Amino acid sequence: MHKGWPFPRVLAHRGGGTLAPENTLAALRCALTYGQRAVEFDVMLAHGDVPVLIHDESLGRTVAGSGAVAQMTAADLAAADAGSWFGPAFFGEPLPRYLDAIDFCARHRLWMNVEIKPSTGAEARTGAVVAATTLAALRPGQAIPLLSSFSFDALVAARDVAPDLPRGWLVERIPTDWQERLDALDAVALHVNQRHLSASQAREVKNGGYGLFCYTVNGIERARELLSYGVDAFCTDRIDLIGADFSPEDA
Ligand code: G3P
Ligand code: MG
Repeated sequence: MHKGWPFPRVLAHRGGGTLAPENTLAALRCALTYGQRAVEFDVMLAHGDVPVLIHDESLGRTVAGSGAVAQMTAADLAAADAGSWFGPAFFGEPLPRYLDAIDFCARHRLWMNVEIKPSTGAEARTGAVVAATTLAALRPGQAIPLLSSFSFDALVAARDVAPDLPRGWLVERIPTDWQERLDALDAVALHVNQRHLSASQAREVKNGGYGLFCYTVNGIERARELLSYGVDAFCTDRIDLIGADFSPEDA
């Protein structure tokens, strides 16, 4: 696997950042409205190993109702309301299956960073299912997505199922053994919380030849600073402020 970052620079976090209900098709539509060309979203397994877009292990915050995602069938979840929490205009917005998101992104040429977000205890299974689903569902000509995860075990499983799908390892802070871990995953990139990234750490990762991605960058000044460190790309909640073609020279 070639390490590095041949991918877009700006990604809409959770689909549409803070401009739409996260991890929904409405969020992906919102990204398009703002001219974004790349999105990050979270994928978890519902009961029966059906991958769906959601960040939290339980309903309640962004999806009306209660209960664990892992215990609910895709049919239960399809009937759930993932939009009302954000605003009445999104009442009834469905919680999408991963397949729906792949289809939407293929039709609209949105590049995907698929964050594998396993429920506790389902790390390897989630990595394997997301990788297999991606391989099976990608359309001819669709840009190859990047799979990422905080879960090392999920990425190991994804690597075993789909070695040719690029992988990025997500960390809050860069650990001392970061390079060994990336190499073990045959990963192309390290994804780090921008809050904890220094210029010297960025240099080290870039000197190693890896891609370097930051989450979540919501201010223009910080975006400029990170790019000056050599950061390749970042996701943002402020898709209204930071456009797809953002460059450090932008006023
Ligand atoms: O993939 C980057 C970012 O989404 C990781 O954090 O909690 O927003 O999924 P979170
Ligand atoms: Mg995420």
